[in-house]
Amino acid sequence: MKSLRVRLLIWVLVPMLGALALSAWLSWRSARDMAALRQDRTLLASAEVMAERIQWANGELAARTPLAALAMFASTAHDRVYFEVRDASGNLLAGWPGLISDKEHPAIGVEYGTLDFNGERVRAVTLTRELRRRGQVLRVSVRVAEGRIGFNRLLHALWWPTLQRESALLAFALLLMLLGLTLELRPVLDLRRRIEQRAPDDLTPIDPTELDLELRPVVETLNQYAVRLTQQVEAQKRFVMDAAHQLRTPVALLNAQLDVLDHAKVSPDVSETHEAMRACARRQRLLINQLLALFRVEAHDAQRTPAVAVDLLVHVRRSCVELALFADAKRLELEVDAPNDAVMVLGHAALLQSMVFNLLDNAVRYAPEGGFVRACVRPLGEMVELCVEDNGPGIAPSRREAVFERFNRGDNSDDNGFGLGLAIVREAVRGCGAQLTLGDGPNGQGLRVTVRLRAAPTHPAA
Ligand SMILES: Nc1ncnc2c1ncn2[C@@H]1O[C@H](COP(=O)(O)OP(=O)(O)OP(=O)(O)O)[C@@H](O)[C@H]1O
Ligand SMILES: [Mg+2]
Repeated sequence: MKSLRVRLLIWVLVPMLGALALSAWLSWRSARDMAALRQDRTLLASAEVMAERIQWANGELAARTPLAALAMFASTAHDRVYFEVRDASGNLLAGWPGLISDKEHPAIGVEYGTLDFNGERVRAVTLTRELRRRGQVLRVSVRVAEGRIGFNRLLHALWWPTLQRESALLAFALLLMLLGLTLELRPVLDLRRRIEQRAPDDLTPIDPTELDLELRPVVETLNQYAVRLTQQVEAQKRFVMDAAHQLRTPVALLNAQLDVLDHAKVSPDVSETHEAMRACARRQRLLINQLLALFRVEAHDAQRTPAVAVDLLVHVRRSCVELALFADAKRLELEVDAPNDAVMVLGHAALLQSMVFNLLDNAVRYAPEGGFVRACVRPLGEMVELCVEDNGPGIAPSRREAVFERFNRGDNSDDNGFGLGLAIVREAVRGCGAQLTLGDGPNGQGLRVTVRLRAAPTHPAA
């Protein structure tokens, strides 16, 4: 069983149910004894009244059955009452023959027992006395028996309320227990929620000081594990980044050698191969640059490097300049809609540059020939809104989550990208504590990317 709460409840429930069963059995026994005592007393009293009325008449014994002897059994249970008075020789003086069997020879005094008579189980009391007259001694037995309906009803009436009371107490105790367990396990559930709500890459230590003593060692162990994991992840990132850096040099060399070949006279076949190699080398260079950009934004530790005031417009304009040639080649209308003054946001220059460049790069790349690309920057009180829109094919709502995954290019099969730009944008947005949404471009055509950044507080001049 995986649930601590269920296991604890079972540990409490099983002993309590055992205690309830034992107590129910004990109270049933005591109720049974009381009901039996009451029935036996009535039977004996009745037998004694009958025995009193046995008299000598004409030299023989005669028994009369007084109504009072039977009236004491009157009850709503309507049990059948049997009696027999007979002498030691087996002569029936009164009552039901056979209630005392011929084989029985009751001893003087009182005997109690349970027997079957007239097709039912009955409780019986046998009172045996000796009667003397003129030197003659005769033994007489009186047996009175009653059915069990009244006895069972009394037993039920005595026992059932006790059982109900104890069951109600158990239910109440369990309810309290459940409430207590839920309240006491809340810190564990809270801790689980806190860990679940963390971003997948958030390995910062959890503060154990506010936790219960029992939970602290667990959290401390988790923190130590997180430290080891962070070290390992950082070592891996460093390795990949170093590898990308190392790749830069041979690719640059390759480009330089291809440049030399540009001036050499070569046959058309070699020239074709040369062009293919140049395209390949260019693609390698772009890939390495994108990978390094991604590693850099990922390696940025927003917690250790506080955000600073950065002019967003600088990065918008710089990116436009870098993309101007490309946009011209496609005869694009590249427009910046922004205030004349600086628009200061809270962030990090390198992250903002990567973010703005990749958004504009996408817009320029996916806008059609002769289309338009617009970057607008709008201060909105405590926020600043940056939007980049184009009139290209846009991104279908169903794909808007997937395009942020690395190397996810959707249906694009051309050689013009790697599917890393939006992954870089997402990391940069996160590093600046901003929010990003994808939507339809103007008139429902193309793509509109909106980034909401925190505006840098302006300090009034002293
Ligand atoms: N402005 C846009 N209009 C239409 N589709 C877009 C736009 N921006 C991104 N996409 C789609 O999202 C995919 C992922 O974009 P992303 O920028 O991550 O990669 P990429 O542009 O293909 O390559 P690169 O790594 O060079 O940026 C693109 O392949 C494209 O299908
Ligand atoms: Mg891109």
